[in-house]
Amino acid sequence: MDKLVIEGSTRLCGEVEISGAKNAALAIIPATLLINGVCTIDNVPNISDVKIYCDILKELGAVIKWNTPNELTVDTRNITSSRAPVEKTSKFRASYYLLGALLGRCGDAQVGIPGGCNLGARPIDQHIKGFEALGANVETTKGTITATASRLKGSSIYLDMVSVGATINVMLASVLAEGTTTIDNVAKEPHIVDVANFLNTMGADIRGAGTDVIKINGVKELKGNATYSVVPDQIEAGTFMIAALASKGDINIKNCVAEHLEFVTAKILEMGANVSCEGDNIHVWCNKRPSKVNIKTLPHPGFPTDLQSQIGVALSISEGTSIINESIWDSRFQYTAELNKMGAKIIAQGKSAVFEGVEKLYGCPVYATDLRAGAALIIAGIIANGTTEVYNLNHIDRGYENIEEKFRKLGAKIQRVSE
Ligand code: UD1
Repeated sequence: MDKLVIEGSTRLCGEVEISGAKNAALAIIPATLLINGVCTIDNVPNISDVKIYCDILKELGAVIKWNTPNELTVDTRNITSSRAPVEKTSKFRASYYLLGALLGRCGDAQVGIPGGCNLGARPIDQHIKGFEALGANVETTKGTITATASRLKGSSIYLDMVSVGATINVMLASVLAEGTTTIDNVAKEPHIVDVANFLNTMGADIRGAGTDVIKINGVKELKGNATYSVVPDQIEAGTFMIAALASKGDINIKNCVAEHLEFVTAKILEMGANVSCEGDNIHVWCNKRPSKVNIKTLPHPGFPTDLQSQIGVALSISEGTSIINESIWDSRFQYTAELNKMGAKIIAQGKSAVFEGVEKLYGCPVYATDLRAGAALIIAGIIANGTTEVYNLNHIDRGYENIEEKFRKLGAKIQRVSE
């Protein structure tokens, strides 16, 4: 079992390059199944969830070549199966996109019930509602979900709640459907726009991505023969912005899109950080203890749930008492028990937590309870007095590329050790 050993009390300073967005790549890779051709995807984050996805596509008949550590060529001309391996697809959340993509291409799709971080109940009823509206029959039995359709026909779909996964999945299933599909009350995250841009580059006709309504005019075929670059990861960029604030550091964050990060910028400015944006760089520096703020997580453009744990670390050492209300997931405060082991004073109950700021955290062994909690615990270890050992790195490796190298370049004393 690997662990990260971090010697703390470090002020993070320097430059960091942001990778392509995990959640965009994990939708674009299955979206290649809608193409009857070859395409190249650049700025792909080299993370374990992406590698599993590539293995799954290969099992379905795709030919995938890594041209560089961050560029893939995918040839989907000879797809031989629409039934994805149950064990592999049950391991991570984004495998649900195979349903929309395979249904769109083959009129038949099967995956294992998707796994992923344990953040509480994670139903996919809205995905299913969308597929059924397009004419599919969907059955869930014995750990698998199977969707079949003799013909998919455009429809009007209203999502009961704003869901990233349902928005993208129904979009995928509609691209090759007959006629026009309208999806109302959709999510507006940057990676939704990115997936739509990717599909449009390959020949789809999707309009409105980034607004509340997406309209898809079905096309007969997607041809490929193009190169697409994945949007920068706004959650990774936000993680380093918060790390600069929490460590009283000075970090120049390169290859990011400032407009995608306005929610973090607003909050860390309130907490006392300085932020300046120029081109695709965001410079964050801070020389005082963070101030208290209250935060409520919301769908984009609100404060994202995927940065809640990281900002929780900054609040744990802030001056005063702050409250976080988590409105997306039921169990996203598991990391607070780990921070409390380090000396934080956090009371979490249900979907709210009260952070009474302390002056210092103290290093000790801690366990990543999910992907973003893992990133939060690394930041906590970097600012704490003494030595922190972070366990359960499999969560972190699923979604952050070279995370310890990136922090080491900023001055963190962090080593991966095999036990
Ligand atoms: C995606 C992200 C995840 C992020 C989340 C919210 C990926 C692979 N994961 O997850 O990192 O935390 O968006 O930004 O992109 N819901 C239903 N029924 C459904 C679908 C969702 O009730 O059919 C509920 C969920 O329980 C949750 C809320 O809607 O409370 C939002 O979920 P959703 O946006 O779908 O999250 P994911 O796509 O799973």
